[in-house]
Amino acid sequence: MTFSIADLIARRQGEQYPLHRQYLNTSLARVQAIIGFDKIWAGGEGAYLWDEDGDRYLDLLSGYSVFNLGRGHPVVKQVMHEMLDLARPNLVKMDCPLLAGLLAEDLVRRMPPGLDAVFFANSGADAVDTALKFARAATGRPRTLFLDHAFHGLTLGTLPINGGQQFREGFEPLMPGCTPVEMDDLAGLERELRQGDVSAFVVEPIQGKGVYIPSDSYLPEAQRLCRQHGAVFICDEVQAGMGRTGRFLSCQHWDLEPDIVTLSKSLGGGYMPVGATITRRAIHDKMFSRLDRCQVHSTTFGQNELAMAAGLAVLHVLDEERLIERAAEVGDRLLGRLAALKDRHEMIADVRGKGLMIGIEFQPPHALALRAAWSAAEAAQKGLFAQLVVMSLMRDQRILTQVGGPGVNIIKLLPPLIIGDEEVEVIVSAFDQVMTEAEHLRGQVWSQSGQLIKHALAR
Ligand SMILES: Cc1ncc(COP(=O)(O)O)c(C=O)c1O
Repeated sequence: MTFSIADLIARRQGEQYPLHRQYLNTSLARVQAIIGFDKIWAGGEGAYLWDEDGDRYLDLLSGYSVFNLGRGHPVVKQVMHEMLDLARPNLVKMDCPLLAGLLAEDLVRRMPPGLDAVFFANSGADAVDTALKFARAATGRPRTLFLDHAFHGLTLGTLPINGGQQFREGFEPLMPGCTPVEMDDLAGLERELRQGDVSAFVVEPIQGKGVYIPSDSYLPEAQRLCRQHGAVFICDEVQAGMGRTGRFLSCQHWDLEPDIVTLSKSLGGGYMPVGATITRRAIHDKMFSRLDRCQVHSTTFGQNELAMAAGLAVLHVLDEERLIERAAEVGDRLLGRLAALKDRHEMIADVRGKGLMIGIEFQPPHALALRAAWSAAEAAQKGLFAQLVVMSLMRDQRILTQVGGPGVNIIKLLPPLIIGDEEVEVIVSAFDQVMTEAEHLRGQVWSQSGQLIKHALAR
């Protein structure tokens, strides 16, 4: 009997939410229904998704930055087809596969000086976990420093360096020896480093949760302090890397030379899960220090040829279509236009970002009645206003965005790097309309506030 996935999808399309409620994450399926994100998606291409009614949505979520090239990029798609047709001997394991070598070579070419040895993982957390192990192996020290608001994944290895209490709660005790330091507090960082037991300081040069950006002198100075005190300096580029901020790596905005860089997300072109940890040969060799330790760290699907091929195709497209330069140019325009809306809307406190990684932060309004609505929402759940804006953008403007993190009044835009002037116009005008609506207490933006407050209080 033949099996057709297309037939199966055609027969069962529409059952996704009941299936998820029954067999997967019931809570998540419920939240999606509450916030109006329970769409039946029928297709996606480039920067757009469309639903079962054929309505088109602009995707500024990009699968959490997996689709830097947009969905279904023709070159990556063609390479995936080619790989299947080539029927290469994938995952032999006791060999040295060609494509992993080629992708490592291409990545190293794009790194800051001295980063010349690569480990391939399966996800962002996997890549960060690997980085932490490299740092331990290289220094023999037990402690790790991380930044407030940091997000490096949700595995048991990366949770202890997560700056969000919401994620940590319920899983303690976490791995000991992980200490938060505050962004821009160099004295605090030095105090910790001076103890001489720190293996690594891990940073996202531009943070994913909240799009927080340190002051210009912080990261170069933090790097210098790490060198001085013998700690490994890790830049987690899982979200901000791969051209998103207008440079291949976000740490290149400050000309940093970290000891380890992590990548994932759009390296797989939206088709394959993949992660990469790129470090110095001297650090790499400390982990794989003897012939009998050559597999002391490994993962079955690392170096999977489909993922390696997707990575090579993605890097080719980034160059060919000058997408990194485009992210810088279009990002500048979008950031400038959104920032200009601050003059028209007092609830916009800040618009910040680099390239096409943009955060918009809100603040309480002055008008008494509006302020009361804001306060009621905040009292029920911190950051609820940002959620209302995200819901309005989806419902009224057909634009997919996300809140900037739990408990913050920030929304985050991560458009595919292929967007142009047309999308900039759409985003700015939609956001302007939603903020105008938000200033009217009886308008659409607040219409679901009561329901959200009820759910928040019930919880
Ligand atoms: C900066 C950063 N590091 C690590 C991760 C974890 O990646 P993954 O979800 O693939 O495990 C993320 C995920 O969003 C991230 O943004």
